[in-house]
Amino acid sequence: GWTMQNVLDEQIAIVNQKVGPDDHVICALSGGVDSAVAATLVHKAIGDRLHCCFVDNGLLRYKEGERVMKMFKDHLHLPVTKIDDSARLLAKLKGVADPEKKRKTIGAQFIEVFKEYKDDVEKKTGVRPKFLVQGTLYPDVIESCPPPGSDQKHSHTIKSHHNVGGLPKELGFELVEPLRMLFKDEVRKLGLLMDVPQAFISRHPFPGPGLAVRVLGDVCADGALDTIRAVDEIYINAIKDAGLYDKIWQAFAVFLPIKSVGVQGDQRTHSHVVGLRAITSSDGMTADWYQFEPKFLQEVSAKICNEVKNVNRVVYDITSKPPSTVEWE
Ligand code: XMP
Repeated sequence: GWTMQNVLDEQIAIVNQKVGPDDHVICALSGGVDSAVAATLVHKAIGDRLHCCFVDNGLLRYKEGERVMKMFKDHLHLPVTKIDDSARLLAKLKGVADPEKKRKTIGAQFIEVFKEYKDDVEKKTGVRPKFLVQGTLYPDVIESCPPPGSDQKHSHTIKSHHNVGGLPKELGFELVEPLRMLFKDEVRKLGLLMDVPQAFISRHPFPGPGLAVRVLGDVCADGALDTIRAVDEIYINAIKDAGLYDKIWQAFAVFLPIKSVGVQGDQRTHSHVVGLRAITSSDGMTADWYQFEPKFLQEVSAKICNEVKNVNRVVYDITSKPPSTVEWE
């Protein structure tokens, strides 16, 4: 029969066939499940000829950089170089409000950083790394290829991420994509088979441009990043405490660049509005909004307004995909 163990054995064999005994391979870990599972698999196949980096682009969630680095080290035993690029990227994003322009700026900067990393690996090993590991999944492959015969005019890109291959061909890598035929739930099973901890495996997906697509408008505005980090942490912890985290595909908070009037204590306030979103889905391509108990939302909303400075209103997103996308930008 066809089992995950077969998939694992087969993919390890394919990696070993493709990558020669003196070749070096690099991988950019995003902190998410897909790249971590892909890297773990490749590490099993070729050991320390795999070189991984993790870039803190300044758009990560609360304590995320520390948390994932600890995970890579303690549980996956992956050698990972952490690169702090936050100051450089945020400087470039200052004043940029257009969603596509934000994504492009982030993507272009990531390529720069990745090139520098590649050069570092080459210096360290004396060998030019020839292969790149990517955690591309099957839905990424199909969402980026219009079906044959479809009208090109109508197969426009909805968001630039729907084009597969985060890194451009000009970098000259051959791709190693061991998850290319798998759906998310299969990737999770494959991870468990390689002893990736359950708590990491069940993490919700997080977009490459990070909090930039969850802070509408200029990410550098008005303490937005710190505010949304604090709100998101409260919301996600509440979801975990209620035992709901694994029932939900993705949940997150969104910072809105608008202020509304409120009353806190006996003070009139003029502070920010945050949005909360939670969805169920099987692949992110379509999604339903998640129906929390009203009491849950009430408690989360109260906690957020009590604990996060500069927020006096919380709204809950009751839109499915379609017509909305998962992210607000
Ligand atoms: P949308 O918002 O397009 O999201 O309905 C579908 C899934 O993709 C994630 N997403 C992204 N992932 N780069 C990524 O790597 C992006 O620019 C991006 N935009 C959305 C989103 O979180 C959801 O899981």
